[in-house]
Amino acid sequence: VKAAIFASGAGSNFQAIMEKDDLLCDIELLVCDKHDAAVIDRAEQFGVSVLVFDPKVFDSKADYEQILLERLRAARVTWVFLAGYMRLIGPILLNAYPNRIINIHPSLLPDFPGKDAIGQAYQAGVKTTGVTAHYVDDGIDTGPIIAQRKVSVFPDDTIERLTERIQQVEHTLYPHVIQQLLKYEE
Ligand code: GRF
Repeated sequence: VKAAIFASGAGSNFQAIMEKDDLLCDIELLVCDKHDAAVIDRAEQFGVSVLVFDPKVFDSKADYEQILLERLRAARVTWVFLAGYMRLIGPILLNAYPNRIINIHPSLLPDFPGKDAIGQAYQAGVKTTGVTAHYVDDGIDTGPIIAQRKVSVFPDDTIERLTERIQQVEHTLYPHVIQQLLKYEE
């Protein structure tokens, strides 16, 4: 089974997926919408092909998703894992990969969707937050939930320490969820 990761940032989740033993799929391609994202260096270290594109040079999301879809099909990719990809997926990719696009989000959805979920939870003063793996639909972090893990917020926590603990949980949960999904694939 062949998969692609879409990421725009530091790539710590990309790294965790690559380092998982027995992931049950090969990561064939990194798709990245930022030419200077650190995740690109990580992909090169793992010998994963990289497709960098600039959404601004296209007239529409449909135009660039059509190009991405051609590349995904050429690489025989059947699953897409979003890992810090900060864009909504449009109808072209959603229709091409029904229930085959997964995301990881650093909160207990439906709480704190969207950007800076860890900061949102910290500001709100919740005692428990966490991590959610979910199927991607056309909303912002709204698709059906696959798995969640709780993370406690301690009274003397800093945002940095909370972020670090949440990311550690992501790095275990996301590769595990991918492996479990692929187990049930024929
Ligand atoms: C992660 O917290 C992920 O949940 C969110 O974006 C962040 C990406 O971090 N969607 P990294 O690039 O994987 O380090």
